[in-house]
Amino acid sequence: MGGAVSAGEDNDDLIDNLKEAQYIRTDKVEQAFRAIDRGDYYLEGYRDNAYKDLAWKHGNIHLSAPCIYSEVMEALNLQQGLSFLNLGSGTGYLSTMVGLIIGPFGVNHGVELHKDVVDYAKDRLEEFIRNSDSFDKFEFCEPSFVVGNCLEISSDSHQYDRIYCGAGVQKDHENYMKVMLKVGGILVMPIEDQLTQITRTGQSSWESKNILAVSFAPLVQQSRNDGSKPDAVVLPPFSVRTLQDIARIYIRRTVRNLVNEEALSKGPVQRVPQKRKRRRCRPPRINTYVFVGNQLIPEPMESEEDERIEKESKEEEQDKDTVEPLKPEEPQVNLLRDKILNLPLPEPLKVYLLYYREK
Ligand SMILES: C[S@@+](CC[C@H](N)C(=O)[O-])C[C@H]1O[C@@H](n2cnc3c(N)ncnc32)[C@H](O)[C@@H]1O
Repeated sequence: MGGAVSAGEDNDDLIDNLKEAQYIRTDKVEQAFRAIDRGDYYLEGYRDNAYKDLAWKHGNIHLSAPCIYSEVMEALNLQQGLSFLNLGSGTGYLSTMVGLIIGPFGVNHGVELHKDVVDYAKDRLEEFIRNSDSFDKFEFCEPSFVVGNCLEISSDSHQYDRIYCGAGVQKDHENYMKVMLKVGGILVMPIEDQLTQITRTGQSSWESKNILAVSFAPLVQQSRNDGSKPDAVVLPPFSVRTLQDIARIYIRRTVRNLVNEEALSKGPVQRVPQKRKRRRCRPPRINTYVFVGNQLIPEPMESEEDERIEKESKEEEQDKDTVEPLKPEEPQVNLLRDKILNLPLPEPLKVYLLYYREK
């Protein structure tokens, strides 16, 4: 699945393309996509493919195509403080983006069949928290991943506001998925080759909308060798945050607001100029054929439209020669981090406020 938008050179470029093709339509989804570099979820040596609109599979690691994730994120209609359950949570890429939108008072759980994939997801999450500046720009709901078969979730589990299933659901399991939703909640899943958005409108009523034709690998159905059912999967609790945790969230929020106000008072931020002009991808119109040897070769013929495009491209090229040379980009400063480090506080408290991060 994928290939719906052109390949990007880097994460921002990929997001530009997804926006241009209308897969990303809202600011909050755009911000979450820009904050998490898809390349960080690839193994070394495979990263070059991360900015193409293609799914990626390596052993048990499996990422869906970016255009699918964009549709999913938009269809989930995420808000701060919601509870989210990711069935087949894989690398944690989607769960991490969701965590940036639902914020610190949300709930963010994932169930994944393979232990090695859960370990991989936990490593990626730790790297994000330790190294990414995005972690300081957002308030984050850290995902918790459990190993297990998501078709065997214990029946006394909590219901969730938002659920996504990342593998194909059989019609027989549709109700099993739907009852895990709270009334008013939204479930997004691939079923019968359609990415479908289901809204629970009442205790026993749901509304369903097809979003996109898709082809997903099906959810794995497991039974023990002796034919018995596997153990029920117990999801993490909906735990209440400690007062200490809440204090950290509010102190960081206050410092972040201060830093943002200071930055604003220094005047509007200079927009980084676009790195490159978009290529015009239009197949040549074929109007004539010429003989070369004994072969008939199509020969594109220039039309008024072609001439206009060519003229515009030449003008753009000339403009490029006249604009001032770009200054090298200054390294981005993590203002929140700097501010916290300069607070008149004991060192261990600063380290706590920085989430023990290394960067
Ligand atoms: C396309 S991947 C989803 C990737 C994920 N959205 C991400 O952000 O990386 C589908 C995942 O579903 C998992 N899966 C398949 N059947 C499952 C099951 N019955 N229970 C739990 N996970 C399952 C696969 O192991 C795979 O990691």
